[in-house]
Amino acid sequence: MNQKDEYIIQTLNLTKEYNKGNINIKAVDAVDLKIRRGEIFGLLGPNGAGKTTLIHMLCTILRPTSGTAFVNGFDILKESGKVRKSIGIVFQDPSTDDELTAYENMEFHAMIYDVPVERENILDLLRLVELGERADSFVSTFSGGMRRRLEITRGLLHQPEILFLDEPTLGLDTQTRHKIWEYIREIATERGMTIILTTHYMEEADSICDRIAIIDGGKIKAIGSPAEMKRNLNTYKFIIKLIVNHSGEEFEKELVKSIMRREFGVDITDINITENSANEVVLEIDLKLDDDARKSFDDLLIEALISVKEALKEFENIEISTIDLHKPTLDDVFMHYTGKKLREEKPQPDHYLRMLASRKKSGVIIR
Ligand SMILES: Nc1ncnc2c1ncn2[C@@H]1O[C@H](COP(=O)(O)OP(=O)(O)OP(=O)(O)O)[C@@H](O)[C@H]1O
Ligand SMILES: [Mg+2]
Repeated sequence: MNQKDEYIIQTLNLTKEYNKGNINIKAVDAVDLKIRRGEIFGLLGPNGAGKTTLIHMLCTILRPTSGTAFVNGFDILKESGKVRKSIGIVFQDPSTDDELTAYENMEFHAMIYDVPVERENILDLLRLVELGERADSFVSTFSGGMRRRLEITRGLLHQPEILFLDEPTLGLDTQTRHKIWEYIREIATERGMTIILTTHYMEEADSICDRIAIIDGGKIKAIGSPAEMKRNLNTYKFIIKLIVNHSGEEFEKELVKSIMRREFGVDITDINITENSANEVVLEIDLKLDDDARKSFDDLLIEALISVKEALKEFENIEISTIDLHKPTLDDVFMHYTGKKLREEKPQPDHYLRMLASRKKSGVIIR
């Protein structure tokens, strides 16, 4: 397979700058990204990371300040018409028309894209997202989740090769979110479409994306499959709560010594002992696992746990209250590459106002 066939999207030094007074913001900063044909690819990042700006450039809605990208083999700067024919986009901000029915929204979109409309084709697409029976209802009567489903299926009308979904489940409840993930998977597998979505939900990135790019401050900080990223991070932790009748500094020292004397098939990187409000001693052991062709990570962890148990046996009157194993999560991966937690992020004031302003407008937002 040549590069063009393997990578349906390739960005080269793609950059977008905004000037505010005399301040220059690099919303997207020299991004080099390759996305494979047929994959579900996620851009994961906090508010203001540059996700929307990046995909708007790929969709030819925004012109880059410098750099370029190839989408389905077409240059976004020179062949925007061909790029637009190759893609479908579901905007972050709602863009269905309340005054039209679901069917009419689809019909109108088909007209814009100059796609011949057959009633049965439109109904098929509506059925795909379980809106077949609501085809003739006004969108003003739809819930947020139903509108989102309509927008997603509308993006498929002209049979694009690539579907962009900007925050497909923002603000939806868990159940609706899971349903939308199901449709996204179905579209990717049954229609062989490449799907690029932005999200700031870890769970979304983890459960539906084949690969993700962590984006922060306009830069790609890391890229890979969620499983591979977690495995590469390689930070495991036992959290063992103990009921003891003799705590104190001396006991803690002895406990650490006893653990360190054992044979461990893994590296202990830190041991932390504290006391919680229930008067339990909390023993936290940080571990790194070596790649061992003969043993799985789970086997290595169980062996390590047995060694800890042996170490505890040296002490009288110790009772284990709970044992927890913390495996690396995408939260940990995010923290590792950006130095911050994704959930703590608050929108910057200017960004938040802009979001509110754009929500008030209806229809396509062109910045
Ligand atoms: N039209 C604009 N004028 C000035 N600055 C802008 C404009 N659009 C975006 N920005 C700035 O560019 C940066 C990236 O914004 P962008 O909307 O791409 O982020 P995002 O990752 O999509 O965030 P969110 O999760 O909130 O949707 C932010 O600092 C934002 O304030
Ligand atoms: Mg956005």
